[in-house]
This record gives sequence, C-alpha cells and structure tokens, in this order.
Amino acid sequence: MKYQELVNEAFKAAEKAYVPYSHFRVGACLLLKDGKIIHGANIENAAYGSTMCAERNAVYQAYCQGYRKDDIEALAIVGDCTPLISPCGACRQVLAELLDPYTPVILGCKDYFEVLNMNELLPRSFTGDSLSCSNQDL
Ligand code: THU
Repeated sequence: MKYQELVNEAFKAAEKAYVPYSHFRVGACLLLKDGKIIHGANIENAAYGSTMCAERNAVYQAYCQGYRKDDIEALAIVGDCTPLISPCGACRQVLAELLDPYTPVILGCKDYFEVLNMNELLPRSFTGDSLSCSNQDL
C-alpha cells in the first residue's frame, strides 16, 4: 500500500470521529505487516481530558488485537488543517513506546503529506529503559 493510499484510509477513519466539542476531526490508519489496516479517530468527552486521540486509538486497538511494534508497517495521521497535523505530546509519548523508532509515521492533510518517524517526532524520549537507572546512587 502506498503512503497516499494510507493517507486516504486515514481520512476515511476521520469520518468516524466523535467531535461535538472541537468539531476537529482527526483520523489515523495503521498498516500492519500482514496487510491488515486499523482505523482510529478522535473520540471526545464532555470532561475534555477524557478525550482519546485518533492515533492512540488506532495503536491501542492494534495492541488489543495482539499485534506489537514489530508487526506495524506504517501509521498515517491526518487532519483537515494547515500546516500538517502534529501529534500531541501525550500521543508522542505513547507512540514512542508502542512503535519502532524508525517505523514511518505519515502526517497528512488534503493535498500533502510528510513521512517522519518517532525518533524524529520525540527524540530522547523517556522509555522503559530509562527506568532501569532508577536505582543508581545520585
Ligand atoms: N487530537 C487528536 O486526535 N490527535 C492529536 O494528536 C491532536 C489532537 C484531537 C483531540 C481533540 O478531539 C481534537 O483533536 C482537538 O484537540
């Protein structure tokens, strides 16, 4: 599947967004190495902090189905905005743990996309490895 097709799928996912408060639809589409695709969309809540972003929804669904980072070929995230949508801080933290650092992450809008990865989107991230130094004498 080409990146543009993945972006198109992410726009289909955005149609499923539940956004009564922001009216800002975000779509995500994960392509798995077995060819399966998983859609994610943002789901808002009247208690705003309980909102779930599109890309986290997609990745959590994949993990719930038993997939892990090595099974993920690429992730596309789209929004109807200029410049390109940029994942929020909470999503970057989650994606840094649940995606391989070099898996393509495609950020798209209607007529343009860019391909990055989590190593670029969240350099020097806090990871499980960071916890292993917690017993060092300071
Ligand atoms: N949103 C996402 O779905 N992903 C992001 O990375 C940025 C923000 C959603 C959350 C909320 O429903 C709306 O966009 C406005 O913040």
